[in-house]
Amino acid sequence: MQTSDAEALKRAAAERAAEWIEDGMALGLGTGSTVRHLLDVIAERRDRGNWGSIVGVPTSEDTARRAERLGIPLATLAERGRLDLTIDGADEVDPQLRLIKGLGGALLREKVVASVSARLVIVADESKLVDRLGTRAPLPVEVDPFAAPILAGFLRSLGAEPTLRRVDGGAPLTTDGGHQILDCRFPAGIADPEALEAALLGRAGVLETGLFLGMATAAVIAAPGGVRVLGEGA
Ligand code: A5P
Repeated sequence: MQTSDAEALKRAAAERAAEWIEDGMALGLGTGSTVRHLLDVIAERRDRGNWGSIVGVPTSEDTARRAERLGIPLATLAERGRLDLTIDGADEVDPQLRLIKGLGGALLREKVVASVSARLVIVADESKLVDRLGTRAPLPVEVDPFAAPILAGFLRSLGAEPTLRRVDGGAPLTTDGGHQILDCRFPAGIADPEALEAALLGRAGVLETGLFLGMATAAVIAAPGGVRVLGEGA
């Protein structure tokens, strides 16, 4: 697929997801290239005089910078403890709307923001749809840098092939929260995401995982043939 076609699909998903937005909402703003289109859609609507009272809570420094540049008003979680809606991207979506997220490195804040949102709507193109999680993308696991060296063995015992994420093959990537990410490949995919999530979160030094289970209320999936909504409609 050409870049322009891929961007058109992301824009189509963002426009459809924006139908959930109402003026006055406190809105979680996800991270990634699809969400960038959403920020553009929000800014365009505001320029036309709509959505004057919405406020966004960004899930990353990158999204905060982009939203600020576009003039979208922002708030912190301390100021807005409950959110009406979060719109975010995903790296994998399975038929039960379980997700892998975090290839953009923002999984911890994304999960915190999603956890206080009444709705979580995912925007993605159809390449993100999988029958089994872990077959297309690695599972990002955010860890404390102190613990990172000793967690690889634990992750291998769970069937993962972990790799410390680095910036362009150099220094380890540091997340917005000052942590590191172990990207975990599962050669046969993840057989039991709920059990894996419980095992990972029970381990000291693991701060969060990219498994988003039972959180998404809808997924807007864009394909060349059109946009469809999985889960609840707007
Ligand atoms: C960010 O940490 C991720 O969870 C993103 O939501 C994910 O990588 C999707 O990004 P794209 O929209 O760029 O595919």
